[in-house]
Amino acid sequence: GYAGPGSPSTRPLDVTLDGLARLEYRGYDSAGIAVVGPEGLSSVKRSGKLANLRASLEETPLPAATAAVGHTRWATHGAPTDVNAHPHLSADGKLAVIHNGIIENFAQLKRELVDLGTEFTSETDTEVVAHLLARTYDEVHDLTDAMLAVARRLEGAFTLLAVHADQPGTVVGARRNSPLVVGLGDGENFLGSDVAAFISGTREAMEIDQDQVVTITAGSVRVIDADGREVEGRRFTVDWDADAAVKDGFDTFMDKEIHDQPKAVADTLLGRHDDDGDLVLDELRVDESVLRTVDKIIVVACGTAAYAGHVAKYAVEHWCRIPVEVELAHEFRYRDPVVNVRTLVVAISQSGETMDTIMAIRHAREQGAKVLAIVNTHGSTIARESDAVLYTHAGPEVAVASTKAFLAQITACYLVGLYLSQLRGYKYVDEVAGYLDELGKLPAKIQDILDREGEIKAVAEAMKDTSSVLFLGRHVGYPVALEGALKLKELAYIHAEGFAAGELKHGPIALIEPGQPVFVVVPTPRRPTLHNKVVSNIQEIRARGARTFVIAEEGDEAVTEYADVVFRVPQTPTLMMPLVTVVPLQIFACALAGAKGLDVDQPRNLAKSVTVE
Ligand code: G6P
Repeated sequence: GYAGPGSPSTRPLDVTLDGLARLEYRGYDSAGIAVVGPEGLSSVKRSGKLANLRASLEETPLPAATAAVGHTRWATHGAPTDVNAHPHLSADGKLAVIHNGIIENFAQLKRELVDLGTEFTSETDTEVVAHLLARTYDEVHDLTDAMLAVARRLEGAFTLLAVHADQPGTVVGARRNSPLVVGLGDGENFLGSDVAAFISGTREAMEIDQDQVVTITAGSVRVIDADGREVEGRRFTVDWDADAAVKDGFDTFMDKEIHDQPKAVADTLLGRHDDDGDLVLDELRVDESVLRTVDKIIVVACGTAAYAGHVAKYAVEHWCRIPVEVELAHEFRYRDPVVNVRTLVVAISQSGETMDTIMAIRHAREQGAKVLAIVNTHGSTIARESDAVLYTHAGPEVAVASTKAFLAQITACYLVGLYLSQLRGYKYVDEVAGYLDELGKLPAKIQDILDREGEIKAVAEAMKDTSSVLFLGRHVGYPVALEGALKLKELAYIHAEGFAAGELKHGPIALIEPGQPVFVVVPTPRRPTLHNKVVSNIQEIRARGARTFVIAEEGDEAVTEYADVVFRVPQTPTLMMPLVTVVPLQIFACALAGAKGLDVDQPRNLAKSVTVE
């Protein structure tokens, strides 16, 4: 949303389109815009990517305006068609509304409206809000009052923005369980799902809390709570600028973000230990006595973030002797997990807005657990609703499939593990400094792999007609195999599965037929107990005709004989290996998708922040 100076111009449209481009990763089934000004309200919406909307605007430009709202959609109710795209308009065409989330009582509200004679044009839950708001506006003649009244009637999750032709310089927003941030400009103000929306206009921002309603004009920002009382929003300054979210000469954001990884790891480590090698995590504002008595850690997360948790389990259990469970947030929430005041729940999320994860942490806190968030996005819902936050400093991640956030998440989890070890004085406490030192060497090792990416890209290009790829790993290599498979599914739409190498003989080996490509993540030969077993697994699949692509350490000659292709990674201690071994798998997936001519940054059907359950 945007409210600008009183004299109408194309700026509201331009700012909104720029914001949509920066937020398109959140959903890209369809896009739409409504502007208001002296000529009333005009709107246009198109299915497909933002480019379709731009093309349509070029053919039929919108009139100069003073305010605008825009939306990119990830469909929940109703197919991604022009009609179902947002904004949704009132019957008289004077009011437009855009919405993220799901209105859970929309069917009941719709029946009510239909009984009153309202005609619906779309299949969305959002359209009920447009009609309800318009009816209420006609009674109270003020968009803020109307929004407050309507928000009270809605159940579920929503960020709503509305404009009305009779209040042309104003945009009103409301939020519950779905993100909304204000951008504070000079003679103009912005509303967005995250700060990326307005970063080219301002870095000064304000958080909007649960159930608050915000009204912006060119010169004012007013926030009220659910009871209509005026409140002060929390202000903050965004610590990155518009340049951080550009491709920087790379063809795709994903390619750029893969290359950002040495910096993402280095920045996440930065300033978190003193000269003696002791960890200083001032941000962990959970009482030390609580951290000392924790007897179980449960990691809740989704997608790639959950795999970061899987990796961390191996290290944290080893360092701290605290049992660590890793759970998909949506599965955790709706069973009856054993959680109490001695449980530390660690929520990992790049966006900090994944609804499944938000619901999981709320449930955990209700049971008395302390929640520590490992989040990349400042001021996000998960960060705000947790007892403590450790930010990953990966910088903005724009490509839908996660890469640099994954490495930063593992790094942050390791810092937490080492910190707990230091605090609780377990037997590895003397090794904390050594592990920190090893973490510090990772950026250079990752860079070394990036410098040799051409080898992997060449293999990927030759494999663009492949229809199935398997990934094997053992110990910390197992979650890496899962992540390698996920990347390939997400980016290249290839059937891919990751397995624990030891599990192969219990079933998956039946899938191996001549020519089947299998990637194997091999542990360091300095851990022979792990290494030798995986080398045997390679032989077992090779004997059945598999084509083997082996990720192995430099100097590991034992694999050479059984590998069709070997990608070398620098020598690294076992627990740190995921931070190097996953990199060739990311490069492979990205290059293969590119070779197939697919949209690497915005794969079909996905969205970066999934703000619905
Ligand atoms: C979506 C994205 C994934 C991501 C997952 C968790 O599904 O497509 O790339 O791993 O959400 O997101 P989060 O922001 O919580 O890390």
